[in-house]
Amino acid sequence: MDIITVQNLKKYYGSGSNQVRALDGVDLTVAQGGFTAIVGASGSGKTTLLNMMGGLDVPTAGEVIVDGVSLSGLREEQRAVFRRKKVGFVFQNYNLVPTLTVEENILFPLDLDGSAPDEKYLQEITELLGLTGKMRDYPGMLSGGQQQRAAIARALITKPPIILADEPTGNLDSQNGQNVAGLLKMTTELYHRTLVLITHNLELAQLADRVVRMQDGRIV
Ligand SMILES: Nc1ncnc2c1ncn2[C@@H]1O[C@H](COP(=O)(O)OP(=O)(O)O)[C@@H](O)[C@H]1O
Ligand SMILES: [Mg+2]
Repeated sequence: MDIITVQNLKKYYGSGSNQVRALDGVDLTVAQGGFTAIVGASGSGKTTLLNMMGGLDVPTAGEVIVDGVSLSGLREEQRAVFRRKKVGFVFQNYNLVPTLTVEENILFPLDLDGSAPDEKYLQEITELLGLTGKMRDYPGMLSGGQQQRAAIARALITKPPIILADEPTGNLDSQNGQNVAGLLKMTTELYHRTLVLITHNLELAQLADRVVRMQDGRIV
């Protein structure tokens, strides 16, 4: 079964001779439970595509259907609810809140929903991600790899069916990058999540079930 269907998706910026076709007719399906890597040169449209799949941005034309729901039919507030329920995001720069502890950062998406944490699950992912003993620290006290592992825990905490990761290893050295990518793969497999990961690193892309290559706003 496909959890994400992208149909003839277009995103244009500007107009006339300054027009940039960030996405120029993308068709893609993502199978539930799989690990898809998206590769391609800088500027090829990878982030734009991922943001559309996560309902962070709206297309110029075309459709994104997630779990049977067409995102173009949703208003802004409905898209926010969609994101909270369906998607966990992992970004290159971790996007942790510096004034919150690691534990508070991880639980933050639940606070937004007013949901109580599943303590057993929290402890389980904390251990899997090697964050035991770091929960009361602030992000600034952690290494890049530790910060990204906290961001992965935050993405997993609401148990969303989809994890979208945009160059999650881009700020890490190769060993920490391998570690973070391996943990993303392991945790998403363990909890049967669907992982879509953008990377520049072809070695990391090899971890995926499927590699999608982008060029000039298209899949090639
Ligand atoms: N907000 C924006 N305004 C104008 N152009 C943009 C904007 N976002 C992205 N672009 C352009 O769209 C193209 C694709 O960008 P992006 O999706 O970020 O590529 P990638 O993630 O593959 O590096 C690039 O040419 C980029 O400059
Ligand atoms: Mg990008």
